[in-house]
Amino acid sequence: MTKRRDETQVVQAGRRPEWTGPIVNAPVWRASTILYENCGALKEGNKTNEDGRFFYGRRGTPTQWSLADALTEMEPGAEGTMLFPSGVAAVSTALLSVLKPGDHLLMVDSAYDPTRILCDGYLKRWGVETTYYDPLIGGGIDALIKPNSRAIFMESPGSLTFEVQDVPSIVGVAKERGLTTVIDNTWATSLYFKPLSLGVDMSVSAATKYIVGHSDVMAGAVTANAATYASLRRTSQQLGQYLSPDDAYLATRGLRTMAVRMKQHEASAVNIAIWLEQQPEVARVLHPALLSHPQHEFWKRDFTGSSGLFSFILKGGDDSGRAALINGLEHFGIGYSWGGYESLAIPIDPETIRTATTWAAEGPAIRLQIGLEHPDDLIADLRAGLDRFVTSMG
Ligand SMILES: Cc1ncc(COP(=O)(O)O)c(C=O)c1O
Repeated sequence: MTKRRDETQVVQAGRRPEWTGPIVNAPVWRASTILYENCGALKEGNKTNEDGRFFYGRRGTPTQWSLADALTEMEPGAEGTMLFPSGVAAVSTALLSVLKPGDHLLMVDSAYDPTRILCDGYLKRWGVETTYYDPLIGGGIDALIKPNSRAIFMESPGSLTFEVQDVPSIVGVAKERGLTTVIDNTWATSLYFKPLSLGVDMSVSAATKYIVGHSDVMAGAVTANAATYASLRRTSQQLGQYLSPDDAYLATRGLRTMAVRMKQHEASAVNIAIWLEQQPEVARVLHPALLSHPQHEFWKRDFTGSSGLFSFILKGGDDSGRAALINGLEHFGIGYSWGGYESLAIPIDPETIRTATTWAAEGPAIRLQIGLEHPDDLIADLRAGLDRFVTSMG
């Protein structure tokens, strides 16, 4: 096949005729039991454990295989993809597939909070020690590696504070020292950042966000290279982690329009981020595509685009001023998650989460998910919010 651009691939990937039949989308094949012709076939079926082969509902049907295949195709260097019922299940299974009791894990300090909770909770009880590291550490991570270090986890950009990590330098050290690298790539998606082609071993995605795109399904995926896929697959199967066919169908449907949605999320978010930067009440905007972002050069080097999620910091003020701003917004919902078609705003307090670095800011911070509404409506809404913030300060 001729080389396809990402926009073409996102439409076509995983649509194998044996899975779609004569229709466009691989239909929903719901199954627990798979029926065999006879006892011999049942016994034979037990012997092999291959992707894309009927066995039992927990190993999927063409509905899930088509989605997994599509995500694998979109990551050059990938061997395969496993699907999960949430992004957190994807993160935890990826880590469990690499670590064992007694191992040491290097975790980025700007990681999604439940990823930290996994490290400080389950992994700790299981005998895995975690060291949190500065997201800007780059090749300096070498100094934190211990004899029992086994894996480095990255999240770039951090999904609250948007530090962009120097992924190639970290991967270079990991390869030299024999460590496995895992990255949470939910923000950029494999459209705008392809970690495996930079040598990362596993790319985790909370498909709940941009892949699903409509705020109505929880899903996760881990796309792995040849060095890590077999263990990832074995661990997922042993833990019984999989994605339901109905949710896989909806995630695949979301994926087909992801490129065009991402373009709009990106354009509107950049537009609004630039506008926010010019408002007198705003101290800083944390968006990797802005020239003012401290790691803008890393973003420009490694990414081909940006998504709709970023944060900004108010100049002074307090919690009640921030609440006045957010509570009165007409076009932004107040709620967790992101990546859907609708805009969201939440207060964020990174200083309460970090341990390896300190978070110092000029005032309270707000994270925005910029949806597909007209950006001018969102700007007018935010301007009225900033006015409420000013009024609340008296
Ligand atoms: C960066 C990041 N990774 C992982 C997750 C977890 O995804 P899920 O909510 O599907 O478990 C989230 C959810 O907000 C996230 O923001």
